[in-house]
Amino acid sequence: MTDNLDIKVLAIETSCDETSAAVVVNGRLCVSNVISSQVDTHRVFGGVVPEIASRKHTESISFVVDQALDMAKVKPLQLDAIAVTNGPGLIGALVVGLSYAKSLAYGLRLPFIAVSHLHSHICANYLDTTGFEPPFMCLVVSGGHTSLVLVKDYLDYEFVGQTRDDAAGEAFDKVARTLDLPYPGGPEIEKLAALGDPRAIAFPRANTGQDFDFSFSGLKSAVLNFLNKSKMQGTVVPREDVAASFQAAVIDALTDKTIAAASYYGCDKVALAGGVAASSALRQSFAARCDEHRLRLNLPPKTFCTDNAAMVASAAYYKYLARDFAPLDINAYSRS
Ligand code: KG4
Ligand code: ZN
Repeated sequence: MTDNLDIKVLAIETSCDETSAAVVVNGRLCVSNVISSQVDTHRVFGGVVPEIASRKHTESISFVVDQALDMAKVKPLQLDAIAVTNGPGLIGALVVGLSYAKSLAYGLRLPFIAVSHLHSHICANYLDTTGFEPPFMCLVVSGGHTSLVLVKDYLDYEFVGQTRDDAAGEAFDKVARTLDLPYPGGPEIEKLAALGDPRAIAFPRANTGQDFDFSFSGLKSAVLNFLNKSKMQGTVVPREDVAASFQAAVIDALTDKTIAAASYYGCDKVALAGGVAASSALRQSFAARCDEHRLRLNLPPKTFCTDNAAMVASAAYYKYLARDFAPLDINAYSRS
């Protein structure tokens, strides 16, 4: 139940290949979260085709927004703010959501809030929970990011580590392609890995020194070299073992650095965010390691890990409280 004092934000997300709209109350209670995925369209190309993504967003945006309002049983005039992702992401795709959100805010005379995609992913940790609050150490792992973020407060965060090359999700997608698995590779690798031995092949764990950065390009090359060498030598290595050993190497790197960063910065709470955080293997590994180190772990439900608009609405709520509104001539941006 909501009342008139509750802040209801309608948010739109179109940064990559999901068209999504959501209504969230007070940054926490998700009352609707509609996601129209284009993944079947892009799968035949082995990855997201930016021009097709923009066109698909244009086709579905009004339907998705109307459905989010219907499901929330909220009339446009009952909303308190309109929010949208304005970057980083695919420019043409972002512009579709941004233009739609601007026209809604202008037409309804509502405050307009622009949110960064990374900030949104972090805020997935507040959805449908009441007790999880900053400060905490957040690992953001998606197709575009692998970052360790010290979340000091709702609007105050510091990047303490990031990937020096590929993002973790990108490594999953590229290795999946070499194993002839369809896009997106993460869930496919996870399925195959469940049938293999994670200790079968000793793939490298990148050593980036004492800092909290990551590197996955060496691991990706090691998998490619291993597969090529096996082919040339005519040895048969089960794909399941390759997937399981690769996944274990990624998970080890992510857990080790996150636990070390939490300890260095004196955090007693850890959170995961981003599409790769939907991996059950990663979630289990974090649960065990955080338990061992007496750290409280927050895992957003899987639908809030991959791209969705509910997380955008949550991030926007905290900007709303700070009266951090955007002008209607704000632009989209592709890189952070
Ligand atoms: O956050 P997201 O939906 O989009 C970006 O902002 O990039 O993340 C997509 C990424 C893809 O690389 C996909 O392969 C990966 O998340 N992913 C997974 C799993 N589910 C999605 N990676 C590993 N295991 C999964 N179960
Ligand atoms: Zn994302």
